[in-house]
Amino acid sequence: NTMIIQVDTPQFDRDIERAATLLKKGENVAFPTETVYGLGGNAFDEQAILGIYEAKGRPSDNPLIVHISNKKMLEDLAIEIQPYVWHLIEAFWPGPLTVVLKKKQAVSSRVTGGLDTVAVRMPNHPVALKLIELAGVPVAAPSANLSGRPSPTKAAYVIEDLTGRVACIVAGEACEIGLESTVLDVTGENPVILRPGSVTQEQIESVVGSCEVDPALRDFSSEFAPKSPGMKYKHYAPEAQVTVYRGDGTQIIQMLETKCLDAISNGYRIGLMIFEADDLVLRNLSKDWPENWQAHVEICLEGNPSDLSEFARKLFGDMRYLDGKGCQSIYIHGVEETHLGRAIMNRLEKASEGRVFKI
Ligand code: TXA
Ligand code: MG
Repeated sequence: NTMIIQVDTPQFDRDIERAATLLKKGENVAFPTETVYGLGGNAFDEQAILGIYEAKGRPSDNPLIVHISNKKMLEDLAIEIQPYVWHLIEAFWPGPLTVVLKKKQAVSSRVTGGLDTVAVRMPNHPVALKLIELAGVPVAAPSANLSGRPSPTKAAYVIEDLTGRVACIVAGEACEIGLESTVLDVTGENPVILRPGSVTQEQIESVVGSCEVDPALRDFSSEFAPKSPGMKYKHYAPEAQVTVYRGDGTQIIQMLETKCLDAISNGYRIGLMIFEADDLVLRNLSKDWPENWQAHVEICLEGNPSDLSEFARKLFGDMRYLDGKGCQSIYIHGVEETHLGRAIMNRLEKASEGRVFKI
């Protein structure tokens, strides 16, 4: 039996205290953040952590991010915090930056997946901050989706995935950023990005001078086709098969047109995630397509390539939407790997299991 709390109600203050009490007692509570919804548990309570893995159906060797409501709490969790880390925190907290540090003994190895480091962030969201503060403990929280499904960017998706599996869901607005936080290893002399997010390498460099990217993250700039699709990338995806095209816009549209015509003539459904300018061109081309084309082609718009924040915000929700529409394939107009584009391409690579093509 899952308690669902709405944020914009007169009784919210009382409800959020109940949610915090549940957290304190070792229950699991899902809540909104600025990135994606999180599924929280008291970071100092082993049972609560086990509950998270169980609710998500996630293997328990995958470490969790611990969420805090003020910067001082970092010192309850981590040791050997170098001066440059405080500069980063000053610049980006509260916000979508997670720092990985040497853990304190008190932090359970269940939270850290057996590692001697702990990942910590202070989310930039009033509901998340209030919940953590009222609970009075750091809150370990992965994204609040069932394992393997796209991260939830709206309360409806959390309710869909986790009703009956957790004690409480705090149902707020859609997430402002839509992609998970940047995960940054700050145990060394220079920070290293382990997972790209909306705090970009360029922004981090502007604060600390130098920032590397984990070599395990793929660099698309020199690739023309995936080396081994599906081999080294964990499934993290919609039901539909995802394919990403990058490169020349005109050729991408030609490719998309052939995919549309194939779906129309063979009677199946596909989804497109494209920019507004692509849509204009395609709709013009569609004048020559069979009249019923819209029964076979679902289009999700991602805004415009000069501002990728809309693409980031909509990406996961669009995948769920296109799945819901029964699309058997999804074709996506990929982007350059700079700034926010690096995080977007990282998620698209996983969702497509490496089916990223440069044309
Ligand atoms: O935006 C976010 O980060 C969201 C919201 C809820 O805060 N949370 C999130 O959690 O995305 P999750 O569990 O889905 O992803 C955690 C990521 C994983 O890639 C994990 O491998 C990495 O953080 N991570 C956690 N602890 C780590 C550690 N000690 N060392 C290296 N990576 C770690
Ligand atoms: Mg996740």
